[in-house]
Amino acid sequence: MDFKEHIRVIPDFPQEGISFKDITTLLQNGEAYKQSIDELRKLLKDLKIDVIAGPEARGFVVGAPLAYALGVGFVPIRKTGKLPYKTIQAEYALEYGKDILAMHVDAVQPGQNVLIADDLLATGGTIATCVDLIRQVGGNVVGAAFMIELQDLNGREKLPDIEVFTLTQYPF
Ligand code: PRP
Ligand code: MG
Repeated sequence: MDFKEHIRVIPDFPQEGISFKDITTLLQNGEAYKQSIDELRKLLKDLKIDVIAGPEARGFVVGAPLAYALGVGFVPIRKTGKLPYKTIQAEYALEYGKDILAMHVDAVQPGQNVLIADDLLATGGTIATCVDLIRQVGGNVVGAAFMIELQDLNGREKLPDIEVFTLTQYPF
């Protein structure tokens, strides 16, 4: 399947110059959504994964079905102020703006193999922050999986020691 056929591209959203990759059109199509998760699962078949972590909000839409498909747990990494128990936090810069991500201190056990999942790899700031949080509690990040990679933003450079898996790439 050509996933690009199901991703809507919106110029100048949320700011001028940003070409927004809208996955809602993929998600609303049952066959495309299922196939995207199944394809990611195939890409990850050689990894040993104990748990999947995904950053709010779009990381939930990718990480949770992947966790279900693999029969492993899911850890939400959330924007600050949302998680009820003790958290660790880290600030990060986005392609546009900045934010703070938080994770429960006991969400990942030391030595657990963690896959990070999200919809999109842009500058890599979000995922580098997730890697930082997971490593702070002793987790072992075995890879990061995305539906989309924006190659021009060189996100992989922020993740030099992480194996990156992507379903579809822009601009090519
Ligand atoms: C978007 C996207 C990725 C991140 C990618 O999330 O879902 O998580 O940006 O950008 P980066 O590689 O430059 O960090 P956003 O923070 O817009 O929030 P959302 O998932 O809650 O929509
Ligand atoms: Mg996101």
